[in-house]
This record gives sequence, C-alpha cells and structure tokens, in this order.
Amino acid sequence: MITGGAGFIGANLVLHWLCHHPDDLVVNFDALTYAGNLENLQEIKNHPNYRFVLGDLRNSLDISKAFSKHAIDAVIHLAAESHVDRSIHGPADFVETNITGTFNLLETSRKYWSDDLSTHRFLHVSTDEVYGSLGSKGKFLETTAYAPNSPYSASKAGSDHLVRAWRHTYKMNVVTTNCSNNYGPFQFPEKLLPLLIHNCTQKLPIPVYGDGKNIRDWLFVEDHCEALDLVFHEGASGEVFNIGGSNEWSNIDIVRFVCRELDKELGRSEDDSCENLITFVKDRPGHDRRYAIDATKIKTALKWTPRHSFEEGLSKTIRWYLDHQDWVSNITSGTYKDYYELQYG
Ligand code: NAD
Ligand code: TYD
Repeated sequence: MITGGAGFIGANLVLHWLCHHPDDLVVNFDALTYAGNLENLQEIKNHPNYRFVLGDLRNSLDISKAFSKHAIDAVIHLAAESHVDRSIHGPADFVETNITGTFNLLETSRKYWSDDLSTHRFLHVSTDEVYGSLGSKGKFLETTAYAPNSPYSASKAGSDHLVRAWRHTYKMNVVTTNCSNNYGPFQFPEKLLPLLIHNCTQKLPIPVYGDGKNIRDWLFVEDHCEALDLVFHEGASGEVFNIGGSNEWSNIDIVRFVCRELDKELGRSEDDSCENLITFVKDRPGHDRRYAIDATKIKTALKWTPRHSFEEGLSKTIRWYLDHQDWVSNITSGTYKDYYELQYG
C-alpha cells in the first residue's frame, strides 16, 4: 500500500513502482484532498496490478477495510497535509492527518500483521523540516536533534516519533526517511517551483517571501523515488535515512535561474523577461532560514546517488509543466483561487 499516491511524490512513486516492480500489487490509498489528483495516474489506471482505494487516514475503518480487502503486506506512507503556508492558516488538518492519521495507520498495521510483525515493512516518508533551521554552516544529519518550527514540520515530527516508538516498543519493522525539497512533474502549484512556472506563463507576479535569501536543498522527485525504493528493500529495520540533492539555492537565485530558463522556452525578450515579474512580499511567519541535508549515510550504506543534475531535472520539470497546461488549468481554475487570494491577497 502506498498512502498519498494521488499526490505529487506519491504519484511519481506509484508510476516508479509499477514500472520497476510490475509483479507487486500496488494499492494507492488516498483521500483525494485538494492535493490529490487521479489525473496524475491516468496512464496506469487500468494496469492489472494497480488498485485505487478512496480512504481517509483519519478514519481507522477505512484503513482496516483496505487492509482486509487487499491483504496489505507492506506500507509506504506518504499521505500528509504537506504545505507550510496552509499549516499556518489552518493547523488542525495537519495534526489530524499527519499525527492521528499516522497513528491509525501504525495501529492497523500492527494489528493486521500481529502474527509476525518483523516480516512486514513500514516505510515512513518524512521531511528534513523536522530538524528546524540551519545557520550558514552545517547540514542535517540523522542524529540532528528535532526542532520543528511550523505546524507542518511539528506534525511531521510527531509522526516520526510515533513511528520510532512503534519500532522500539512493538518491534515493528519500520524505516524512516527525511528528505529535502522535491521538484518535478505533478507538484501542486502552491509550492515554489510550480507556482513560479505557472505565474511566468500567465505573466502574474512571482511572490518572493522576505529578502529571498532563505535556502533550500532541491532534489528531483524521480531521484527521491529511487531512494525510497532502495530504503524500502535494503534499509535495516529501525534506521533513519536523510535524502537530499546537495543542491542548495537561495530562493531569489533559484527564482532568477528558472526565470532565465523560461525566457528561453517561452521566447521572452529582455523587456518581457520573467524576471520582471519578481515581487518581494511579506515574509512567511516563522520562515526557516536554511535547510541542507548530509546524505552520506544513504550514499554509503545503500549506494544511492541522485541520477539527475539540477539542470536536467529542472529542464524535464519545465518541459512537463509547459506540455501539461490543461493539468495546471484544471487546478488553478478551481478552489485554488480561494487559497491564492487568502495567501497572496
Ligand atoms: P502532496 O500534498 O502533493 O500529496 C499528499 C497526498 O496525501 C494527496 O494525494 C492527498 O489527497 C493525500 N492525503 C492527504 N490527507 C489524507 C488523509 N487524511 N488520508 C488519505 N490521504 C490523504 O504531498 P507531497 O509533496 O507529495 O508529499 C508526500 C509526502 O512526502 C508527505 O508526507 C511529505 O511530508 C513528504 N515530503 C515532501 C517533500 C516535498 O518537497 N514535497 C519533501 C520531503 C518529504
Ligand atoms: P515551499 O515550496 O512552500 O517549500 P517549503 O516551505 O516546504 O520549503 O517553499 C520553498 C521556499 O520558497 C521557502 O523558503 C518559501 C519560499 N516561497 C516564496 O518565497 N514564495 C512563495 O510563493 C512560496 C510558495 C514559497
């Protein structure tokens, strides 16, 4: 079972899994919140080894029905409320889905697999944001103390702690990953890169928070999926793996870089450059200054390394968004407008 398989990383992972493990039955358990989109999975919807279950992690009954019906023997848990800005406007959904939802999933798995917990893998997919904010030096290690700052990262930290405790107390076969910022196809256009690409194509202002000097470590989503596959199959039980691209950019630098790439793709002249759309706006409350991952452990223990350079990943991503304008407009024409108004005024 992959939870959250209709979202950004989940959809990429479902596609990856059916391509690389075609004999596995993949059950996508997803509540189809605003962030879930079955259009992402059009190409495999009739695959003989794919099933979709409309279910909500906040409801234990939904989970146990799916376990019974499909004889679930392993879980990769991605479903979450995932956007920091939304967590600031409305933290309750984050606590309910990310903490209570993870609790419900752990408890159902524990009960359903009680005959032999050790043979059933539970991979918990988390974020580097649980470690808080870095100064100008240093990187997050698996041993870095948790210091979450937003309702989103606090709720993910809570879920990580539950997973850890279920291993320690009940001996569940769990592994946890903490990954840096992803980018790539199917990312909902509330996150920086797809929002930027969309606003450039529509000649809308590009909102850059604060001074634009916050730093993120960007990883192409397919490289993340490859890492998850490796950790699922080869990561030792109880271990935590940090995943990151060693690819740090300040927000203003990445925005300018993407603008220049888009100018070429869209044939925009210097006068008409996407860079002219950059607009500094009020900062996000509690905005973490810098994230950076030290991925030595996964590189050494599991021989993982990202296959895509940033230029390759970005070029694939830009091409995908330009070729899928219908996908974008199906999203941006709906309730997205209300969110955009609330966030950017
Ligand atoms: P997303 O917001 O694009 O997708 C989340 C999916 O979860 C959606 O399909 C949604 O419908 C589903 N979902 C939400 N609440 C649910 C519930 N109560 N029950 C069942 N399904 C529910 O998220 P994403 O960016 O793909 O992130 C996936 C996971 O990876 C999250 O756990 C996130 O914390 C983690 N992560 C994301 C990033 C990133 O850069 N996007 C980086 C590191 C880790
Ligand atoms: P985001 O994609 O929301 O990911 P996260 O907050 O989880 O890292 O934002 C990435 C960075 O871009 C973050 O520092 C906030 C910034 N940002 C903007 O400057 N403007 C925007 O409109 C958005 C959505 C993000």
